[in-house]
Amino acid sequence: MIPESFIQDLLHRVDIVELIDAHVRLKKAGANYAACCPFHNEKTPSFTVSPSKQFYHCFGCGAHGTAIGFMMEYAGMGFVDAIRDLAARVGMQVPEDDQRRPAGAAPSVALAELMSRAARFYYESLKNSPKAIDYLKARSVSGEVARRFGIGYAPDGWQSLDRIFERYDDPALQAAGLVIRNEQGRLYDRFRDRVMFPIMNSKGEVIAFGGRVLGDGEPKYLNSPETPLFEKGREVFGLPQARAALREKNTVIVVEGYMDVVALAQHGVGNAVATLGTATTPTHVQKLLRQVDRIVYCFDGDNAGRKAAWRALENSLEALPEQKSIGFVFLPPEDDPDSYVRAHGAGEFERLIAQATPLSDFMLGELQARCDLASAEGRAQLVASTKPLLGRLQTPLLRLQIVKRLAEATGFSQAEIERLCELRPIARAAPARAPRRAPSLARALLRLILQKPELARRLPPPALTDSSGEERALRRLREAVSAAGAATPSCAALLESMRGSSEENLVREVAAELMQSPFAEDDIDSEFAGAVERLQERQQQQAFAELQTKVQRLGVSGLNDEEKRAYLAALSARSRSPARPAGSGQDDG
Ligand code: UTP
Ligand code: MN
Repeated sequence: MIPESFIQDLLHRVDIVELIDAHVRLKKAGANYAACCPFHNEKTPSFTVSPSKQFYHCFGCGAHGTAIGFMMEYAGMGFVDAIRDLAARVGMQVPEDDQRRPAGAAPSVALAELMSRAARFYYESLKNSPKAIDYLKARSVSGEVARRFGIGYAPDGWQSLDRIFERYDDPALQAAGLVIRNEQGRLYDRFRDRVMFPIMNSKGEVIAFGGRVLGDGEPKYLNSPETPLFEKGREVFGLPQARAALREKNTVIVVEGYMDVVALAQHGVGNAVATLGTATTPTHVQKLLRQVDRIVYCFDGDNAGRKAAWRALENSLEALPEQKSIGFVFLPPEDDPDSYVRAHGAGEFERLIAQATPLSDFMLGELQARCDLASAEGRAQLVASTKPLLGRLQTPLLRLQIVKRLAEATGFSQAEIERLCELRPIARAAPARAPRRAPSLARALLRLILQKPELARRLPPPALTDSSGEERALRRLREAVSAAGAATPSCAALLESMRGSSEENLVREVAAELMQSPFAEDDIDSEFAGAVERLQERQQQQAFAELQTKVQRLGVSGLNDEEKRAYLAALSARSRSPARPAGSGQDDG
């Protein structure tokens, strides 16, 4: 675990405005900064960054978070890597985490440096290899496209990398997957005599390679192993190169092969990426749908491609948010996107993409083909086979459409299908611009504390029950502030301290509200005092109401001594103060 205090320091030193501005041009807008949102496609800026809260929020798509969150969302990093990256920017040393990394493993930054040097070496070596150049030419890859993808050539020798690294036996080279040690202890290059495709993360850093044999040979593609830099199920090939086209087209085409991406780019179809010899994972889907609203899978036309499409469908269901869509293109059996675009041109290919089969059609079509709908058993079987898929879907509208069509196909009613498939109502995520409800008391307190975290110290302990998410969040914030000792954490540090807890989203939502309408600095203390007072009052009323119910049921003798004292005290307090008519509170709880 990285200590909370380190994260707090880090967030203090990093400036989120500077960080985000390096990726997305920010314009000053009042107290905040604004830009067109990098996480969804828009023409007017609704992405806002607050320098005082060190927090970003998009009023269009709802994306929000701290500097750490930004690196995770924008650059697709894991939590720990995001922290490492930010720490490196401000010259801080992350306290090493012994449990996470095997002893002696090189830190990711050093590995990234090795990968980038190797990529440069392969790239330069291509110039000296007529046969590799010929190979690419024969596949009609232009020099310009080769440069754009950083395509290179690994020379034909056992230890070519020896030329660029001082110590060929540096264990980091093995950790990076560039050098292999055989059973006799001999070291040799993993990639020899292959055309090299660097795989980059979304920041454009080389994290792995795929190397293709020049002719026929096995394996056709050799890939880097998984390393601290490279997790196959998270990464795709061609992402940084596709960025501009993704923004323009708001659609990503997912293909199977390196050469499919390269050939499409060569023909002017720039918005394609490839999964790396693995099935499309929910993480892939999530990552891609943060950048565009639509995924079109376009796999090879053969049987394997169809199977890959079905896997992609299964893995997309749980990651598919409302208002995003997924389509499938099935090429003729002998084609892959590379051969198709070469034979038919970009126009024809784009037409296929535009007319992609919707997810629901593919799903039902495929399932129906496996059942005999002429028989009652077959129709029941269809419903049964749809059940696990429908259960994963998080989008109520799409689910309803599918249920309706299942009803038509099987003769069951919609209600019967919902019951047979044990479908429960989907808890709808709050729409991006939810109508404002009158904030509850606890929510008001949350906002106050996020604006001025030291107030958490003044929250009276007994004032909180666990009855709502807001109250649980308040309690956690109070704990975080008191655990931090004398140095009160900033708003951003408090948000990070909630990461992974069940109240994380709630608190981030509240921080986003706060950005829209902060409290005036002068009012904040009296607002807080008033809110605490109302909270305590309300809780006393609740306690009293409970005692009263008990008395009505069991008489005063049904109370224990402590309860009796509380009951009498409350009665006498009520007779002294002018009673508030019930239900006059201005908050809704
Ligand atoms: P394909 O065999 O369809 O490759 O594998 P391709 O892209 O059409 O290759 P070319 O056109 O013959 O050059 C699709 C993807 O599966 C992975 C690679 O990522 C490849 O791009 N693969 C394939 C491997 O990892 N290893 C292999 O041996 C073959
Ligand atoms: Mn191919």
